Amino acid sequence: MANQLKVGIVGAHRGSSYVQPFTAIAETNITAVCDINEAALHSVAERFGIRQRFTDYSEMLNAVDMVVLATPENLHVPQAIEALEAGKHVISEVTAAVKLDECYELVNAVRKASAKYTMAENTCYSRSNVLIRNMVAQGLFGEVYFGEGEYVHNVKSLHHDATGNPTWRYYWQVGINRCNYATHSLGPVLQWFDERVSSVCCLGTGVHTDSEHAMEDTVMMLCKTGSGGLIKIRIDMLSNRPANSYFSLQGTKGCYESSRGFGAASKVWLSDMDAGETWRALSAFEADFLPERWKNPPAEAEHAGDLGEYFKVRDFVDSILNDTVPPLDVYTAMDFTVPGLVSEESIAKGGVPVAVPDFRA
Ligand SMILES: NC(=O)c1ccc[n+]([C@@H]2O[C@H](COP(=O)([O-])OP(=O)(O)OC[C@H]3O[C@@H](n4cnc5c(N)ncnc54)[C@H](O)[C@@H]3O)[C@@H](O)[C@H]2O)c1
Repeated sequence: MANQLKVGIVGAHRGSSYVQPFTAIAETNITAVCDINEAALHSVAERFGIRQRFTDYSEMLNAVDMVVLATPENLHVPQAIEALEAGKHVISEVTAAVKLDECYELVNAVRKASAKYTMAENTCYSRSNVLIRNMVAQGLFGEVYFGEGEYVHNVKSLHHDATGNPTWRYYWQVGINRCNYATHSLGPVLQWFDERVSSVCCLGTGVHTDSEHAMEDTVMMLCKTGSGGLIKIRIDMLSNRPANSYFSLQGTKGCYESSRGFGAASKVWLSDMDAGETWRALSAFEADFLPERWKNPPAEAEHAGDLGEYFKVRDFVDSILNDTVPPLDVYTAMDFTVPGLVSEESIAKGGVPVAVPDFRA
C-alpha cells in the first residue's frame, strides 16, 4: 500500500512483539530494525523478513517515520528525544523514564515536537482491565476509592547475561531502592480512578534473597490520589516464588478482585445486582460491558496477534492519522512512571509522603 508509515524497531527482543500488529495494520509497515547486538539483529530481521538492518540508531531514524523503543529503560528518554527532534513518532516501551530530571526533558521535547509520543503500557489493554474500566465508566462500582496493583515476577535470571556481566535490569530495575517498574500495576488502576497520584509513601521488606541488589525484595508504594483515594502497589522482582500479577478495586457500590492464579476466577461483587455476599465471575460481565470492538474486532486484527497489543498499536497509529491526542500520551506516561521514581525519596526517609509533580502544570 502506498503512503504507509515506515516503522523502525530498536531493541530486537521485546521489539519483535510489535511486528505482528504493525504488519497487520494497513497504514504501517515495519521496514527497519536496529540492535547493537548483531546476532539478535540478524536473527529478528531474518525471522520476520525485515530488509533494513542497523546497528546505529541515529542512522535508522533517517530511514523511518516512526520508532518503537524496546531498548533498556535508561535509553528510552534519550532515544525518544532524538526521534522527536528528527520529526519521528515514538512508541516507547515501559517505563517512560528512569530519572525525574529526564521526565522534564521528555515532556518539553514532546511539547515542541510535530511528531507524536506514546508509552506502550500494555496492561491498560488487557481484556480484564479494559472490561473493568468500562464497568467503572458505566457507574457499576459507584465512586471508586481504593485499588491495588501487584507485579510479582522473579527475574533474577535476567540480571546477568550468559557471561555473568550485569545487564541493564541489574542497574535500573533492581539496582535502586524504590518502586521500580510500577507502570504495569499502577497504569490500569489510575485509568479506573481517572485521576493522577498526588503523593506516595514507600516502604520495603528489607533485602532477603539477593544481597547484590539495592532494591528490597518486596517494595510497597501507597499512592494518594488527588481526590483522596488510595492505591496500593506491590512490586517484587526478587522473591523466590512463582509469578503473579494482581489487581483489585473498591467502590461505594461494588468491588473487584482479579485471579491470584491456581484455578481461581477473577470476581466481582456489585450491591445493585448481587444479593448478600455472592461473588460473580468477571467473565459474566463481558457480554454487556466489554467494549464492542473487543467483541467484534476489525478484520485486520485476525492476523495481528494478541488483541490488546493490536489495539495499543492501532490507537497510536489512529492518533497519528487523525492528528488527535494519543490515548497514552506523555502526560499519562508521567502519571504512570513518576510515582515510582519519587518513591525513592520516600523509602530513603522511612516512608514519609513525597509529592508527585504534575507535568500538565
Ligand atoms: N510491556 C511489556 O510487557 C514488556 C515486556 C518485556 C520488556 N519490556 C520493556 O522492553 C524493553 C526491552 O526489554 P527486553 O526484555 O527486550 O530487554 P533485552 O535486554 O532482552 O533486550 C534489549 C535489546 O536492546 C539492545 N540494545 C541495547 N542498547 C542499544 C542501543 N543503544 N541501540 C540499539 N539496540 C540496543 C540490546 O542489544 C538488546 O538486544 C525494556 O524497556 C523493558 O522494560 C516490556
